[in-house]
Amino acid sequence: KSVQVFAPATVANVVCGYDILGFAVDAPGDEVTMRLTSTPGIRISKITGDDGRLPLDPAKNTVSASVQHYLNALGQPSLGIDIELHKKMPIGSGLGSSSASTVAGLFAINTLLDNPLTTMDLVPFAMKGEELACGHGHADNVAPALLGGFVLIRSYEPLDIIKLPFPEDMCVAIVYPEVDVPTRDARQIIRSKVQLKDAVTQWGNVAGLVSGLFMKDYALIGRSMVDVLVEPARSILIPDFYQLRELALAQGGIGFGISGSGPSVFALTKDPETAKRITNTLQQHLQKIGIRSLSFVSSVN
Ligand code: HSE
Repeated sequence: KSVQVFAPATVANVVCGYDILGFAVDAPGDEVTMRLTSTPGIRISKITGDDGRLPLDPAKNTVSASVQHYLNALGQPSLGIDIELHKKMPIGSGLGSSSASTVAGLFAINTLLDNPLTTMDLVPFAMKGEELACGHGHADNVAPALLGGFVLIRSYEPLDIIKLPFPEDMCVAIVYPEVDVPTRDARQIIRSKVQLKDAVTQWGNVAGLVSGLFMKDYALIGRSMVDVLVEPARSILIPDFYQLRELALAQGGIGFGISGSGPSVFALTKDPETAKRITNTLQQHLQKIGIRSLSFVSSVN
């Protein structure tokens, strides 16, 4: 018995919602092919598209490690499984690359076993994969990758995840400047204490963004995409971040920011044409300053 599962890239934080907001896109994403075998234990037989960067050791790979957690919880720790992972998106880009692989793996095993758990129940296992990938089990990539669309993590303890509505025509322009920004490091440069007045600004914006999604009010969504807590520290890791923002907004982006922990940046738009214009403009700028980049025009999905 074998299944093939696709799981999408995700944009975590959505500017003001560090660790609590994220959305999934229709593409890019990763693919996992999984097969039940008669040899006990998990084996990763093949990884493509990673330039040899990902571990084949089942204890170290986020896909197999999270599947193992799942099997332990179901009381079938030695089930024989063969995994093929096909990376179809850049690693370390801030687009939830490890999350996409992990989620595809968990969805695959749950399907092979005839869905003993709900998709929502898979979130904690996927968070284990994130913990292995970057030292912290945040859910703002894995929850949207599993559930689709916009997702709010209202609470981590206990886990309380809420699917949010969003305007159906919402598109996203994503540009990945090819510089190295490991999530682990990007989390370490954030100050752990915040000023009350900054907290007030931030929760006003989070509430504004969530309200804007419910009201399908692009102007409110756009003016709520402001981050006074995390972006000031992380923006220095991204070449010409503030110029890129100015260019994206001048081209019609409704809001702009860092995707997850970066270095990818994203802009929300009302249509794919605007998103395309934005990716072209940002890539031209990056090329001028000698930075290679990749881009994606996707819809929120
Ligand atoms: N919320 C996480 C962070 C997402 O910003 O570190 C990482 O993809």
